[in-house]
Amino acid sequence: MELRWVCAVLLVLPGAWGECPQPPRFAFAEPLTPPEQSYAVGATQRYRCRPGYTVARDKAPVVTCLDNSTWSENPDFCIGKSCGPVDIPNGKFNYTTNLLFGATITYTCDLGYRLIGKSSAKCVLGNNEVVWDSNPYCEIIPCLPPPVIKNGQVTDGDRDFTFGMAVTYSCNKGFSLIGDATIHCMTDDNLNGVWSSPAPECKVVRCKNPEVKNGKKLSGFGTEHTYKNSVTFECKPGYLLNGSNVVTCEAENTWKPPLPTCDPIFCGPAPHFPFAELTSTVGNSSLAETKLSYRCKPGYTAASGKTSVVTCLIDKTWSADPDFCIRQQCTPPTIANGDVIADNFLFETVVTFTCHPGYELKESSSAKCVVSGNGVDWDTAPPYCERELPDILCEEPPTIDNGMHNGTKGRDFGHGSVVVYKCSDGFSLVGAALLQCVAGDQYGGVWSKPAPECRGGANMIIVGIFPLLLAMLIMNV
Ligand SMILES: *[C@@H]1O[C@H](CO)[C@@H](O)[C@H](O)[C@H]1NC(C)=O
Ligand SMILES: *[C@@H]1O[C@H](CO)[C@@H](O)[C@H](O)[C@H]1NC(C)=O
Ligand SMILES: *[C@@H]1O[C@H](CO)[C@@H](O)[C@H](O)[C@H]1NC(C)=O
Ligand SMILES: *[C@@H]1O[C@H](CO)[C@@H](O)[C@H](O)[C@H]1NC(C)=O
Ligand SMILES: *[C@@H]1O[C@H](CO)[C@@H](O)[C@H](O)[C@H]1NC(C)=O
Repeated sequence: MELRWVCAVLLVLPGAWGECPQPPRFAFAEPLTPPEQSYAVGATQRYRCRPGYTVARDKAPVVTCLDNSTWSENPDFCIGKSCGPVDIPNGKFNYTTNLLFGATITYTCDLGYRLIGKSSAKCVLGNNEVVWDSNPYCEIIPCLPPPVIKNGQVTDGDRDFTFGMAVTYSCNKGFSLIGDATIHCMTDDNLNGVWSSPAPECKVVRCKNPEVKNGKKLSGFGTEHTYKNSVTFECKPGYLLNGSNVVTCEAENTWKPPLPTCDPIFCGPAPHFPFAELTSTVGNSSLAETKLSYRCKPGYTAASGKTSVVTCLIDKTWSADPDFCIRQQCTPPTIANGDVIADNFLFETVVTFTCHPGYELKESSSAKCVVSGNGVDWDTAPPYCERELPDILCEEPPTIDNGMHNGTKGRDFGHGSVVVYKCSDGFSLVGAALLQCVAGDQYGGVWSKPAPECRGGANMIIVGIFPLLLAMLIMNV
């Protein structure tokens, strides 16, 4: 009943213009004097800050009744006191608003430390002062003592083990340490310490002496092979390594990766060359690295800077210098008053000869460079060019007294022409009856012999002279 009455009064009161109702209430302050029912315009009400608060700088803890019957606004004239920053070794705190009365901070620890206590604190009142209501601390994260192992020990094992510390194991003589020799204290959840890996094991490890057929060891020659010992292999020439060339003795007394094999590589039949032949017979298949010797066929000679050795490569092909034999060359022929027509003078080349104009080629008009003894030579002696003579003509054969020749007048008497002389009856021929047209000293032709003579018989002379003498005698008488 009474409450309902009070409400009615509160609703009615503001109606009175020129007066203020009860002054405002604040969480941070309380009226210094008990509030009254109404205040005249201009009246003030002073406050005092509640515990945990203090008067804000440049503000007065007072409100005034204004003309329009409202209280002057003077917000936050008391503010919370500051709990201040906290010093938390190996950690830090965080806040969203401020460090004042009522604020909350959260604590976090540095890596390797864990928070002991409440992770948040509130700025609260205690003994009339503001204080953080919890004061946790950061503790370094501990690890359990490192595990004890058989046949080995941890060095420096008697102490506290905390985040970041490392311990190292060693094995007794004759035992191999399998795993990480050194482990360190770490954390997965920022609360509990764990060792970075399981403790190593100390075991007796022995791997069998590794043998690779057609291979040889390049390292790891001993016969005792223990943990982590490595052996390096190489295959003999002609064999290809299949697998890893390095194997390591692992904890299970086995080599890893598995031992390689050396697999043979073969090339096919020896290659054929038009210019060379094998120096020995070779089967249809040869192991890689096999070297075959060739010699140049007759007419060919080894090319300088090239090898006549052909090798079976690991890609199963034969390697050969291209054209390792080259054709031998015949001495370039010469011909006086003529030309040699040829691109080159190499083995099996045919050269042809021509003569300059006015000369005639004698002997073979071509020659071929062929094998001759250990080398090459022309298959025929070179020809020669002979001066071509103009037609040899003789003059008409000379006429003789008391005789004639059978040469027809006006005909040409060429080289070799023959005329025969004959004397008239009663005359006898003195000299050669047969003349032939032969080449003279100069270009023309001459008769081989002087023309013969036809002489009268001795009786004729007597017959001729005697009557004359007779007549002379008669006339003298
Ligand atoms: C009363 O007057 C003050 C100052 O003149 C003004 O700030 C405030 O808004 C007024 N209040 C009302 C309810 O009119
Ligand atoms: C501090 O608080 C802010 C805001 O809440 C947050 O973004 C930040 O990550 C916090 N820092 C730490 C170290 O907790
Ligand atoms: C290497 O050896 C493995 C196992 O013996 C075999 O399967 C593989 O074909 C071989 N590789 C070659 C290139 O020979
Ligand atoms: C080499 O191969 C040829 C043709 O395949 C064959 O006739 C000959 O018998 C083979 N020779 C050898 C020695 O295997
Ligand atoms: C002249 O006679 C000889 C012998 O009978 C003969 O060989 C020759 O050819 C003749 N000469 C001519 C020009 O007829």
